Amino acid sequence: MSLFQPRDASASSPSATAPVDVVIMAAGKGTRMKSRLPKVLQRLAHVPLVQHVLATAQQLQARSAVVITGHGAQQVEAALAGLGGALALKFVRQEPQLGTGHAVQQALPVLGDDGVVVVLSGDVPLTQADTLQALIALCAGQHLALLTIDLPDPTGYGRVVRAGDAVQAIVEHKDASAAQRAITEIYSGIMAVPAALLKRWLARLDNHNAQGEYYLTDIVKFAAQDGVTVLAQKTLDAVQVAGINSPVQLAELERSFQHRQATALMEAGVRLADPARLDVRGRLLCGMDVEIDVNCIFEGDVSLGDGVRVGAHCVLANCTVAAGAVIHPFTHIDGGAQGASVGEGALIGPFARLRPGAQLGAQVHIGNFVEVKNSTLAAGAKANHLAYLGDATVGERVNFGAGSITANYDGANKHRTVIEADVHVGSNCVLVAPVTLGAGATVGGGSTITKDVPAGALSVARGKQTNIANWARPQKLAK
Ligand code: UD1
Ligand code: MG
Repeated sequence: MSLFQPRDASASSPSATAPVDVVIMAAGKGTRMKSRLPKVLQRLAHVPLVQHVLATAQQLQARSAVVITGHGAQQVEAALAGLGGALALKFVRQEPQLGTGHAVQQALPVLGDDGVVVVLSGDVPLTQADTLQALIALCAGQHLALLTIDLPDPTGYGRVVRAGDAVQAIVEHKDASAAQRAITEIYSGIMAVPAALLKRWLARLDNHNAQGEYYLTDIVKFAAQDGVTVLAQKTLDAVQVAGINSPVQLAELERSFQHRQATALMEAGVRLADPARLDVRGRLLCGMDVEIDVNCIFEGDVSLGDGVRVGAHCVLANCTVAAGAVIHPFTHIDGGAQGASVGEGALIGPFARLRPGAQLGAQVHIGNFVEVKNSTLAAGAKANHLAYLGDATVGERVNFGAGSITANYDGANKHRTVIEADVHVGSNCVLVAPVTLGAGATVGGGSTITKDVPAGALSVARGKQTNIANWARPQKLAK
């Protein structure tokens, strides 16, 4: 949903369908981040800022995206390589950085004359595609369309100078007169402009201004001089045009972004105990009647089935939780590249840890301080306390006792443990892999099992208990 209010855009104009090329300016240093990482690679919801911008360009179904790199160019290019999708993704270097106009000049050789160019900044991550679509429609292949916003404190920004209603120029803060500084409508840094006009105007730039830079914003006065209509579209949504310059601004925008995601989830029916205490750093899909308690973090691709409840303070990454399962507080699930899955009606936690390749069937119970890695647990299997299941295949209804573990690693290689259906493993057992426990077998508590156990057998592998009557404990010696 956009707060953008479209004007009467001439969508019927034939040139309105001109191909779109996006230019993403990402050469700036970002001094105020005080970081070794280039600013546009700082992360919002775990995704580099400039990658958010590229994702928006993809939603526009643009023909190409040209990323202008400079500071940390190699890192920025490496971070984006291969992420163009259907877009032709191009990189252009800007060395040295002589201003935003100079930045866009570098892109001109790879921009066709037939398109509309949408200029974006790599440090403005949350602009929505529908806002840009409306700006492109406004440009209609023939006008200069600017996205602007009224700010209570416009300090530092380029002011939109109008004569009557018509936009005459953008004047940068440092070049502005006192009267111009009183203008609260500022340029967001986002514009849509016909490529042919952009090329013509950029050839006329100079750097005779307070900062000695080539300002992209000077093209506005050229448009006015050439009699090309300049349309300034005001957005009411500051988040969409907010740029990141400092860690404080980054954290503020992260909160705005998370709040939007929380709102979208609630609108889809998800019950959040507190929308301010939720972080989604990836994609969270929820069925009906999902409940999420406070301070939960979701990363990568997570899907929660109907009626799933997630307790407080859980971290869930790259996993699937089937309908009716309950994830109790303080549980950590990280499926990694392999993924992890929790079956219908399963009960997990509190304080459980599921790692890559954990595949739990229906009604499985995993209790406190139990770790499961690369293991399959069939329906109804239980490991309720203080246990480790690694590289194991566990059958239906198996009960895996408190403090028991699979010793899956011999110091060089990993081996599998197979526990067939209805096995009962007592407390504090070590199952030394590779080993198989046949269906229905029982393992006595405290056993170290190094050989297969036949189906139905009882296996006890521990020191025999000896009782010595009337045992006199040693006495403390007198000093
Ligand atoms: C720019 C606008 C200003 C607007 C503001 C909105 C100009 C001259 N001014 O100012 O009107 O209100 O954005 O945030 O355009 N960059 C390069 N190469 C350069 C310089 C900048 O790639 O040589 C990139 C930066 O990395 C950044 C973007 O361009 O992503 C904007 O540059 P920035 O220096 O932040 O421009 P402002 O002075 O904020
Ligand atoms: Mg800026």
